Amino acid sequence: MHYTPKEFTIPSLQGISDHTIQEHLGLYSGYVKHVNLINEKITAYSNDHENNSYAISEMQRRLGFEFGGMKNHEAYFAQFEGGATTMPDGAFKSTLEEQWGGFDAWLASFQRIAKTRGVGWAMLYIDKSTNQLAQTWVDEQHLGQLADVNIVLALDMWEHSYMLDYPPSKKGEYIEAFFQNLNWEVVASRVG
Ligand SMILES: [Fe+2]
Repeated sequence: MHYTPKEFTIPSLQGISDHTIQEHLGLYSGYVKHVNLINEKITAYSNDHENNSYAISEMQRRLGFEFGGMKNHEAYFAQFEGGATTMPDGAFKSTLEEQWGGFDAWLASFQRIAKTRGVGWAMLYIDKSTNQLAQTWVDEQHLGQLADVNIVLALDMWEHSYMLDYPPSKKGEYIEAFFQNLNWEVVASRVG
């Protein structure tokens, strides 16, 4: 299985510089490269599984980090494509309002998750088996990622997402900027 970095057309954003986006896209392509590298190495090392079993296990353990880094960033960058929009009516909006009692209540709860100490992601998912939304914090790229759900909204809270624009003590301003630039049509389309 081989992955190719996706291309993203991201307009100039408010509060998140082009420099940050360019650097960040470079980091994303590094995750794609390392997913491919791990898969290639596992295949190569498997020729002598007996001697390489420990190395293979460790690479297998590492795959979740690299794969998460690839998929999380693809969800993240796509949310900026096409520029900021208002929230469209539809299944996403109504489910969100139903589960949290209103958009503002949901937003406040999601922003609290985003302020979790550490590096990782605030994630909102759709569980298509129940048509319910779920949200959580993901450490690094993979730890705590929920199973059998699809990403609806991905907010990167690694410092590389904002440190060229804000000091770590001002990460709340980055979170505000993130929401000002969101294409809600893209986000809502993930709920279907
Ligand atoms: Fe990132």
